[in-house]
Amino acid sequence: MHIVVVGLSHRTAPVEVREKLSIPDSSIENSLASLKNASEILEVSILSTCNRLEIYSLVREINIGLSSIKEFLSNFSNIKPDELEPHLFDFKQEEAVLHLMKVSAGLDSLVLGEGQILSQVKKMMRIGQDFQTTGPILNRLLTQSISAGKKVRSETNLGTGAVSISSAAVELAQLKIGQSRGIDGLVTLEHEKVLVVGAGRMSRLLITHLQAKGCQNLVLVNRNVDRAVSLATDFPNMAILSKSLEELDEYLIKSTLIFTSTASEKPFIDRERINNLKIINKLKLIDIGVPRNISNDVKEHDRIDSYDVDDLQEVVSRNQEFRKKIAEEAELLIKEERVLFLEWWASLEAVPIINKLRSGLEIIRKEELQKALSRMGPDFSARERKVVEALSKGIINKILHTPVTKLRSPQPRQERQESLKIVEKLFSLSEEE
Ligand SMILES: NC(=O)c1ccc[n+]([C@@H]2O[C@H](COP(=O)([O-])OP(=O)(O)OC[C@H]3O[C@@H](n4cnc5c(N)ncnc54)[C@H](OP(=O)(O)O)[C@@H]3O)[C@@H](O)[C@H]2O)c1
Repeated sequence: MHIVVVGLSHRTAPVEVREKLSIPDSSIENSLASLKNASEILEVSILSTCNRLEIYSLVREINIGLSSIKEFLSNFSNIKPDELEPHLFDFKQEEAVLHLMKVSAGLDSLVLGEGQILSQVKKMMRIGQDFQTTGPILNRLLTQSISAGKKVRSETNLGTGAVSISSAAVELAQLKIGQSRGIDGLVTLEHEKVLVVGAGRMSRLLITHLQAKGCQNLVLVNRNVDRAVSLATDFPNMAILSKSLEELDEYLIKSTLIFTSTASEKPFIDRERINNLKIINKLKLIDIGVPRNISNDVKEHDRIDSYDVDDLQEVVSRNQEFRKKIAEEAELLIKEERVLFLEWWASLEAVPIINKLRSGLEIIRKEELQKALSRMGPDFSARERKVVEALSKGIINKILHTPVTKLRSPQPRQERQESLKIVEKLFSLSEEE
């Protein structure tokens, strides 16, 4: 059995490709079911975020397993296999384990050390368990990866400074507004007429960062206006006007800085919509949705500067230097976690022999107990019989404890295999015997 991962991320694919491979929550169950249908896939789990889609799997045979996942990705995205292939990466075994641990720690994120990814890995594990597509190996790998992610955040400074895609988006706005005023640096946002579209997790973070950068009032548009109202109440020191998506056009005209962060599967701001509006202000649009909320053709409008998640790279690389140093420290912690997982996985090799040994001894125990009990005759009470039974179980467990612990303990593979062979031979545990 082998662990593999196939995927694509902001490192390997532009947003135009990533958005075609963004699997919404509503399609996860079907996607997992169709992957699990393939006989070579034993366990499978999907990580789908704005910047990556990764499919982790336990497969019988590496190449067949990889092809099967790639075929699924091609079918799902409607991208021909040879067009998709250059955007995909794959890792096997130890490399796949290391990759998930790095992802979980935020070391593979666009914004190094961002915190959202850890909750997305937790969600991936929950979904795999709910739909029963993960089993002992992937569950253990996911648990260990989540623990690696937590460890990196608690034992290094990688996660400090509340970094996220949202904070990078606000920073990009400051940078672009500054540049258009001829200032080389970050400016306050207090004079901008800000509109945020979407009232989910990302919008909450956006508003937090906007507030920190001087923004005191904004308009919050959401499909469900009650959710916008509820989010607004969490910012008592800001004047937030909550509006429904039907009123979007009115506030597009009135704003100067617009953020979109909805989970809409299609763009809802495009050139046609903008052409029907009387745009007076020069607009800066920053879209952190994947799939994108703003169509690419908006970029051609002369009164609009439009940016998407891939444009965040510009601000991200400005403040990554000091994080890169901390990331090196984090990698060491991750490698320790990887060793723990691989040792546990290797120890599973001993399980079939240990199980056979246990069942062989259990048969002997039961037979001998039966003989002893029948020799005791009717004078012994049920309680005394139970004591004798417990005694027999206790002896077996005590005898097995040391060899079982030794067989499962971390050790070179060859050493374990030799020990297993000896046990198999001495106790006649092989199939033929
Ligand atoms: N979570 C992250 O770490 C992260 C990071 C970067 C980018 N993103 C991207 O940011 C976007 C939002 O993510 P999130 O985590 O904030 O999601 P979320 O908490 O689930 O919130 C989803 C938001 O999208 C709105 N929405 C959903 N379908 C819509 C539709 N068809 N038309 C208009 N609005 C719709 C929802 O409105 P209702 O309240 O009316 O349902 C809600 O405001 C996604 O595209 C995601 O890929 C997420």
